[in-house]
Amino acid sequence: MFRNLSKWCLNAVAVTLLLGTFSVNAQDEAPAEAAIDGGGLFKAQCATCHNPHKDGTGPKLSGVRSAWESETGSSNAIIEWVQNWEGAVAKYPYAASVAQKKATKMNKFPNLSAAQITAILDWVDAQPEKTAGPGGDVAGGGAVVTQQDEGGFPWIWVILGILFLVVIGAVSGVRRQLKVASGEASADESLSYGEEFRKWSWKNLRFVLIGSVVIFVGLLVVALQGLGRIGVVEDYQPSQPIDFPHSVHAGDQGIDCKYCHNSVTKSKSAGLPTVNVCMNCHKQISGNDDAQKEKIAKIYKAAGWDGQEYTGETKPIVWNKVHVLPDHVYFNHSQHVEVGGVDCAQCHGDMKKMVSTAKVQPVSELNKVEGNIQLTKPTLTMGWCIECHGEKEISTGSIDTKGGGYYEEIHRRLLNNDRELYSKYLEDGKVTVKELGGWECSKCHY
Ligand code: HEC
Ligand code: HEC
Ligand code: HEC
Ligand code: HEC
Ligand code: HEC
Ligand code: HEC
Repeated sequence: MFRNLSKWCLNAVAVTLLLGTFSVNAQDEAPAEAAIDGGGLFKAQCATCHNPHKDGTGPKLSGVRSAWESETGSSNAIIEWVQNWEGAVAKYPYAASVAQKKATKMNKFPNLSAAQITAILDWVDAQPEKTAGPGGDVAGGGAVVTQQDEGGFPWIWVILGILFLVVIGAVSGVRRQLKVASGEASADESLSYGEEFRKWSWKNLRFVLIGSVVIFVGLLVVALQGLGRIGVVEDYQPSQPIDFPHSVHAGDQGIDCKYCHNSVTKSKSAGLPTVNVCMNCHKQISGNDDAQKEKIAKIYKAAGWDGQEYTGETKPIVWNKVHVLPDHVYFNHSQHVEVGGVDCAQCHGDMKKMVSTAKVQPVSELNKVEGNIQLTKPTLTMGWCIECHGEKEISTGSIDTKGGGYYEEIHRRLLNNDRELYSKYLEDGKVTVKELGGWECSKCHY
């Protein structure tokens, strides 16, 4: 009877563990399919210029949808406006009047679907008046670190594991006590709890083994899931002292990345511009409207510029770091950009389109950039680095390319002397970063 009881308990625990595995997986996948995140889209695409309840660079947006519907008699007009305001102006007289509202022109969003724009407007209309942030700008407020949401240690597994041990212990304990009570256990009486457990385990070896395997596999799954997530910071967008738009500078103005990140080809870190770099231009450019003037005034304050001359009272702008690797990792920009010829957009996305401050682009966004190597692991994780090192080819150079024949000469000598050693690299017709040691722990870890 007790044998049956313990069998039953073990089966129950095993089933629970297995169900647990599935439900954990199901939870993981569900959010990806979830409804469109209107708030997230608003913060990423619109918040630099719009606030639901305050005028900024663009007008406040709450309630404008109903105005558009009643003025144009079409529920689609506002969607056309967001996708391409100029097209809407040509079609609807009301749009033409809206286009007069502000001196700045709205951006066009041809890539946003009608459903996405509807989700944004739904979100806007659902915002209560008091959440309007100061200064008509909520871009920074939208900062999200997904780490906490996703990477939380699944304690449920530990609890289940402990529960399992307790069940085994309890079953053997109950059994012992019952035996003692019924006077049946005369021979066993002197056995300690541990000895009794061992004895019980030997008798029920099959179940103990199966149980252990189930627990082991369960914990392994958890550990791997956890490790795959370590340091996942995709979408991370900290708030910044000035809402700096890359789209205006690197995009519209076509300023080269290296003008501001000037150590990117020469050293480990890319570097951020000092306020003096901003002043090279902003001494003259103080902004077209209130929203711009307010932002650019912060540059003047930092530089100690009173509009006529420098007062000497400077206060450096402290930018928050967006891309952060743990201290034990070595990453070098010049190695990738200059030697490896990897484009900024491969790792940072198309910054020329970034209308608010920088963020860690999810790998799904990076994959959309034309010419990028398609990767699957979350940005900035070890898996991500390694995956690219396994895919990316090294330019071995030929006489008429950058290598200037240097590598080619080495290849020729190697091929002559040791064809066998060399064939390892050329098996698949390409030399990857991995084959040159890009998967060695010590290359990336201090
Ligand atoms: C670069 C700044 C900027 C961005 C980014 C921007 N807008 Fe605009 N938006 C404007 C301006 C400026 C106007 C006012 C029209 C004008 O003067 O041309 C406007 C007008 C509008 C209007 C009409 C408002 C009214 O009063 O009827 C809607 C709706 C709108 N924007 C939605 C959006 C949405 C949705 C997004 C994000 C997908 C967005 N905008 C992103 C600047 C921007
Ligand atoms: C006019 C100066 C300027 C230019 C040009 C510029 N940037 Fe930036 N960049 C900044 C400033 C200021 C910040 C800090 C604010 C922020 O995070 O958005 C920044 C931040 C960044 C970050 C995030 C840094 C971090 O903390 O992790 C990346 C990545 C970046 N820039 C890439 C680029 C790329 C790629 C280009 C060229 C397409 C470019 N930048 C052009 C000024 C500039
Ligand atoms: C192979 C991927 C990769 C490429 C290519 C790349 N970056 Fe980065 N970038 C990173 C990583 C990883 C970090 C975080 C570094 C850290 O925390 O040590 C970073 C950080 C930055 C920062 C923050 C300041 C710093 O140096 O930590 C800036 C600015 C930046 N990158 C700009 C650029 C620009 C501009 C280019 C193109 C010229 C570029 N990056 C190309 C991966 C890349
Ligand atoms: C090479 C010239 C140049 C440099 C350097 C430069 N800017 Fe600008 N900036 C511009 C121009 C041009 C505009 C656009 C003004 C307009 O819309 O007419 C602008 C606009 C801006 C705006 C307002 C954008 C908006 O629409 O809200 C901010 C904020 C800004 N810059 C911040 C900075 C900061 C911070 C730095 C230094 C890291 C910097 N700029 C460096 C040329 C420059
Ligand atoms: C988009 C592709 C890509 C990504 C992502 C990438 N790398 Fe690399 N990495 C390269 C290339 C290409 C080279 C080889 C440059 C060369 O020597 O030609 C390289 C070389 C290196 C090297 C030198 C290897 C050697 O054998 O000397 C180190 C160290 C390194 N990367 C670290 C990292 C780290 C850390 C990350 C993640 C934070 C990372 N890389 C992400 C493409 C990438
Ligand atoms: C191409 C670069 C690269 C190589 C090669 C590499 N790592 Fe990593 N590793 C990283 C990066 C980046 C992180 C931090 C991001 C993360 O935790 O995913 C990391 C994180 C880790 C962590 C997690 C530490 C923590 O808790 O943050 C461990 C453990 C680790 N690496 C071990 C190894 C071992 C062992 C090897 C050799 C087999 C190795 N790494 C090779 C880039 C690399």
